[in-house]
Amino acid sequence: MGWNPYNVFDLNYGEAEAMAQADLLVSSGLAKLGYDHVNIDDGWWLRREADTIRVRTTIYPSAALPDGTTSLRPFVDRLHAMGLKAGIYTDIGLNTCSQRWRPGTPNLPAGTVQQREVGTYGHHAQDAALLFTKWGFDFIKVDACGVADYAPDVGEVTDGTFRAFTPLIVREKPAQSKAGELARQYADFAEEVRRVAPGRTPLISICAWGQADVNDWAQRYGQMSRTSFDISPSWDAMLFNFDSAASRALFAGPGHWNDPDMLEVGNGAFDGKHLTAARAHMSLWAVLAAPLILGNDLRRMTPEIAAIVGNRAVIAVDQDPAGNQGVVVSRVGDGQIVAKALSTPGRKAVALINRGKAPLKLSVDLADLGLAPTAPTRIHDLWTDATTAATNGRISVALAPQETALLLVEGRPLADGIDLPADLPARFDVADEGFKAPDRTPARQWVLAQIGFRPYGAPLLLDGKPDHAGLGVAAGSRVRIDLGGRYDRVSLDPRTLGGTTGRYVIRVGGRTLAEGVASQKAHQMILHVRDARQLELVAPPAADGLKEFGWYRMSLHRRPDA
Ligand code: GLA
Repeated sequence: MGWNPYNVFDLNYGEAEAMAQADLLVSSGLAKLGYDHVNIDDGWWLRREADTIRVRTTIYPSAALPDGTTSLRPFVDRLHAMGLKAGIYTDIGLNTCSQRWRPGTPNLPAGTVQQREVGTYGHHAQDAALLFTKWGFDFIKVDACGVADYAPDVGEVTDGTFRAFTPLIVREKPAQSKAGELARQYADFAEEVRRVAPGRTPLISICAWGQADVNDWAQRYGQMSRTSFDISPSWDAMLFNFDSAASRALFAGPGHWNDPDMLEVGNGAFDGKHLTAARAHMSLWAVLAAPLILGNDLRRMTPEIAAIVGNRAVIAVDQDPAGNQGVVVSRVGDGQIVAKALSTPGRKAVALINRGKAPLKLSVDLADLGLAPTAPTRIHDLWTDATTAATNGRISVALAPQETALLLVEGRPLADGIDLPADLPARFDVADEGFKAPDRTPARQWVLAQIGFRPYGAPLLLDGKPDHAGLGVAAGSRVRIDLGGRYDRVSLDPRTLGGTTGRYVIRVGGRTLAEGVASQKAHQMILHVRDARQLELVAPPAADGLKEFGWYRMSLHRRPDA
């Protein structure tokens, strides 16, 4: 949680603006609520020098040292003295986003081609030591235009403005991107950061916009990873970014969060004149357990906007220690329901979302939230503070256009001692194992694995009804569940979908526990997993394209003593 200048200032800011925001984080009480990172973005550098990066002292005056060198240490020290954390920005390539896309912008790097190469490519060890050991930063956003937008045939490259960098990311074309090499670059950078900051763990924010399948591996090298291109303060842009993360609940958990981008609460379509939409935006980020990085100018924040970003109960949903991202329960027309399992069994934060421009009535069965329909259930609206009960095992709300109700639902689990996948998405880890990726295009999005939905996004149906306890996965995927020795048995029903043949394998601690030929027949299996720490479900590989497989009707039975 924190603040970042980019949404409101682009590159038109410096130390004075950042410190003014830092003061307001503290004086408004937002820092105490958790918003404690002040992350500067693109635009702090003047040029790269032999063994350092020179800071632009016209906008960071405290960086000018008496000996003529520059350092952001004084800036970082001031933030630390206020009880805040300090974040900085780099690019995994040679050059940055603003250099390529906004050439007229002030505060771009200056000097020769080489001096303007302020990105960290080829300088990981040196930059990590500078930013984390010498200057003491706590957080870094690592952008990726440098490895995407400087191909040899780009005009600014052929005219000699920038050096060519053969792209590792081909935008919207994962199959043409070089994900392996991109991963190696981020892995190496992360390794250097760990090396220079022993005993500390600076946070790494991967900013490769969900390209090159980054979100299938980013969890290993960064604490957060952008799932889409830049947000803007419009309703549709906010929903687009929300969607890019919402299908990826199985890829987030403590220490590795999906990042749909900085908040636009307080800006444009989410400003003081659009409080319903602003509350919706905040609700959606909270139910996703997304990083909450304010992107508004705190000097102009109205009390109503301050109350939205400062709503303690909503922040508590976002920051719940179990670290589960909300799971999409349903999406019909403009209505969408997302439920986030909280640390206490039987407790869920439920977002009922009206994505549209007309009023909408929405309801959801407690059973579809994994809650017992007949148990006493308390429903607390985190925006209106009203408390109600469920009627006939159902929660119903009437929503204004662009309204989201964020409800804290406290009931009983559907069955005592049994967890469903949606109760513990943070304990899942998904990777490809022989998966052949087709291109992910805006029209043809897919996800390696999700709860209740197929990889291409259609509901996972069982006898015509959505299976909220099933996982739709891609052929050639591996789903790992961290059982932590807490379970006796796992029950599931493996079935082919969309043409997979071949053998699925279920492993426990590296040993094959069960395997079989994928078929369409129902076959509920009981796996005895006592003491096992990990269960691995490997869907059969497919020769090419995206073939689908289902791990249906999954339930995890807790050990009586766990
Ligand atoms: C990219 C990133 C943004 C921001 C800008 C800065 O577009 O995605 O979040 O950092 O670069 O130039």
